[in-house]
Amino acid sequence: MTTTMFIHNISQLWTPQGFQASRGAAMREVRKITNACILVRNGALAWVGSMDELSQAHQAPAHPLHAIASEAFAAPAFDAAGRCCVPGFVDSHTHFVFAGWREDEFFWRAEGLPYMELHRRGGGIQNSVRATRAASEEELVELGRKRIRTMLAHGITTAECKSGYGLDRDTELRQLRAIRKLAEEEPVTIVPTFLGAHSIPPEFAGRPRAYLEFLAAEVLPAVRAEGLARFVDIFCEKGVFELEDTRWYLEQAKAMGFALKLHADEIAPLGGAGLAASLGAVSADHLLKASDEDIAAMAAAGTIAGLLPLTAFSLREPYARARAFLDAGCAVALASDLNPGSCYSQSVPLIFALAVLYLGMGIEEALTALTLNGAASLGLADRVGTLEPGKYADFVLLDAPSPGHLAYHVGMNLVSSVWKQGCMVWHA
Ligand code: NIG
Ligand code: FE
Repeated sequence: MTTTMFIHNISQLWTPQGFQASRGAAMREVRKITNACILVRNGALAWVGSMDELSQAHQAPAHPLHAIASEAFAAPAFDAAGRCCVPGFVDSHTHFVFAGWREDEFFWRAEGLPYMELHRRGGGIQNSVRATRAASEEELVELGRKRIRTMLAHGITTAECKSGYGLDRDTELRQLRAIRKLAEEEPVTIVPTFLGAHSIPPEFAGRPRAYLEFLAAEVLPAVRAEGLARFVDIFCEKGVFELEDTRWYLEQAKAMGFALKLHADEIAPLGGAGLAASLGAVSADHLLKASDEDIAAMAAAGTIAGLLPLTAFSLREPYARARAFLDAGCAVALASDLNPGSCYSQSVPLIFALAVLYLGMGIEEALTALTLNGAASLGLADRVGTLEPGKYADFVLLDAPSPGHLAYHVGMNLVSSVWKQGCMVWHA
């Protein structure tokens, strides 16, 4: 990247700070700058601060910021015209590469059919598996590309994407290769996660351990050899992969050098959150039914709590107890969980509104959760998630006087333009 650019006339710039996850009460500490400006050098942030300070520095040769000011005022300029600015959002939990749709299930659930009942009847995830097995790599790439562009339009500049709709060696690898292709071609940083342990495929019906043994012996080594995933995830749930199977499998993955994530305590209170903490997982996600003890264990272990309010909304389940996680000193991340079944939404503004209205989070906490802590949950907090010198110049300009409008305009997309490594990659 060779982009150098000076963005000025930003009414308000809000950013968390730091190069690792922000925990508990610290999540409220957001730097707020009025009349802000940003100097981008070679796609990275060279300086972020107030225009008044920069103007003063420009006039005073002895000022420590004098050189920065001279560089800024000589660079190509972009007038933000009074818009406000936040870091590019980091969606740290998604399943956006899949084929087929499951709209029927949405209406069945609306009539009261439980999500897990669909799975027991051979529907649910298995329906997406049938369609994804039948899709070519090129088809998966094009399906994913449409969804990544919608994410971008919502200000998402970094996203995780999980496999898990193949449940056999070839389709899982094909999904991961499609994710890698999108990472190469689209202006979004994409982090791949291997979720072969998403459900038990028909070939292994009733034999979860045998399926996990197959994954550990035949698929994980191939994923590692091709460098196709950084994280290994599992759907730890009653009737799918229960605690002991989950522990065994994640220990294998860890020994092979993968970092760990879990879908934990979503429907039944199994104790997956405590297991995540004891394994040193980077994050445990969903957590609708996590116990107080397990929340304390996650805080002590530094395991990030990935909360997915759009999924609770779509499944009509009680929301995760965000305050309990925050009060215990946990780092909380918020993400979309975009997937064909339990939650088809990329709506960043709805995440903000639900977080504030139903999870009891402050707007600063929610912002930290969707930026810095999302980045930490993907092992990228040294590069993205805040607007600080050295990090990627990934930011969003919002058509609003202040970032508080992100939640206040319920479910309304306020994004005016999206910048990735200093380049405008989307605008309204
Ligand atoms: O995170 N709960 C398991 N996995 C996904 C849903 C997958 C699906 O229904 O396709 C989730 O909610
Ligand atoms: Fe998920």
